[in-house]
Amino acid sequence: MEQQDYIIELRNVRKKFDDADDYVVENFNLKVKKGEFVTFLGPSGCGKTTTLRMIAGFDTPTEGEILLKGVDISKLPPYKRPINTVFQKYALFPTMNVFDNVAFGLKIKKVPVKVKKNGQEVVKMVHLTKDIIKQKVQKALEIVDLEQFETRDIQTLSGGQQQRVAIARAIVNEPEILLLDEPLGALDLKMRKEMQLELKEMHRKLGITFIYVTHDQEEALTMSDTIVVMSDGFIQQIGEPKQIYDEPANAFVADFIGESNIYSGTIFPDHKVKILNKLFPMVDDFPLHEKVDVVLRPEDIIISKPGEGTVDGVIKSKIFKGIHYQYVIMVGKNEVTAQSTLSLPVDEKVSISITPENIHIMKRDATINAYDGYITKNNKVCFAEYDWECDVTQLLKGSSIDEDGYLVGPDHKKYDLTDAEVKVDVDLNKVMISDNVDECEVTGQIIQMVYKGDHYQYLVRNENDDFIVENEWTWNEGDIVGVTINKEDIKLKLKGDIKQYEL
Ligand SMILES: Nc1ncnc2c1ncn2[C@@H]1O[C@H](COP(=O)(O)OP(=O)(O)OP(=O)(O)O)[C@@H](O)[C@H]1O
Ligand SMILES: [Mg+2]
Repeated sequence: MEQQDYIIELRNVRKKFDDADDYVVENFNLKVKKGEFVTFLGPSGCGKTTTLRMIAGFDTPTEGEILLKGVDISKLPPYKRPINTVFQKYALFPTMNVFDNVAFGLKIKKVPVKVKKNGQEVVKMVHLTKDIIKQKVQKALEIVDLEQFETRDIQTLSGGQQQRVAIARAIVNEPEILLLDEPLGALDLKMRKEMQLELKEMHRKLGITFIYVTHDQEEALTMSDTIVVMSDGFIQQIGEPKQIYDEPANAFVADFIGESNIYSGTIFPDHKVKILNKLFPMVDDFPLHEKVDVVLRPEDIIISKPGEGTVDGVIKSKIFKGIHYQYVIMVGKNEVTAQSTLSLPVDEKVSISITPENIHIMKRDATINAYDGYITKNNKVCFAEYDWECDVTQLLKGSSIDEDGYLVGPDHKKYDLTDAEVKVDVDLNKVMISDNVDECEVTGQIIQMVYKGDHYQYLVRNENDDFIVENEWTWNEGDIVGVTINKEDIKLKLKGDIKQYEL
């Protein structure tokens, strides 16, 4: 596709606020086509508003470029961009009526007109005439279906009507791009659903590009041409709604979009994957023995009589959901959420199977915590900004530590490992987290969590480093936790040759 076909392009955009250590938007690359409905979807604090503000021009990227039809607009102030924004808190003027609210921007706007002066054509900036303003406001109010409301006071309108005024005020300027930051956040569920359809219809009528922000996955799935799933400042996946739902790129996306069962699995020969302690046939091509994440959607789980499916289990709970029942089936220690129109009692023994096409396999982001560290002078290892107790004798077979703290090899050679660079590995289930923050010297915040059938996988961040933690206890996103790792669970590998540390 030619460059000009993209109305907006973000290239390697990163954003760090002046007083912060961390980037809140990282490595953001996105191309938006003219007329597209693109949605930024992700949990609170993941950088959606910040990205939108950079496109609008209210914030500048720390690095990277934002292109409008192929031209860098980083230096262009917001009012010179053909972009308007609708914010979550629609700041309408409470003392003005609907017409004046919508007309406000037009009244102060000046447009260039060609006039003859001394026989020469010159360009003069003039205000719009009253008639033109009236026409434009009426057209905008028509689009948001408020043509009868021109003289109404803002305070007498419902939330949904006020939101439509805010939209009319943004579209009256005839922007090429409309940015909408959680515009329906303040509305109740029913009104939200109505407004979703209306917005979609407005998008169709106007034919302009919409960039929409929400943390509601259902809203994103119903409205968008393209969804950008974000987490923690990073794009996790870009795709059409169906693609994001059917082929999530990783466990985070699978967990965030729709209901899903996520398990850690291993690839076996003959196109099989081991999950729930059984081999399930699959269609994807993955290297043998690879550790993967596997997603099973509840509606894809086939329930049959014991012994008839791939693995047996027992129904633990049952909820009626209108057209189907939602079951939690215990398969060994694992929970499997399944949907079926079949009514079965709790405690019933059943069997489950899944057709190979419905087994979605994803590459695992990380199977181990890996850090670059160094040995301190008292034989601790420094990584993730802390000096951890560790066993340095693992760096040389048959070695021990003498009373002076030197490493002594089986041949009695002595080594001073101070400042030796090492690779540090810690298994995911060996990083322990606890609520006793005061008793732990390392603390972190839970940034992400994914439930995997019989345990949770957490992403815990301290200053600049991440710990991936697997355990069966429940914490919430945002919790501050203490982090500990037992000495024997810290695996070290020397980066250079041990000879260089010989005394
Ligand atoms: N002006 C600022 N100065 C410092 N940090 C900021 C500023 N604005 C936002 N942040 C931080 O940047 C991160 C991303 O914020 P942002 O508002 O983009 O999130 P969001 O995805 O829109 O979240 P929400 O769904 O809650 O609106 C947050 O950690 C936030 O605290
Ligand atoms: Mg926001």
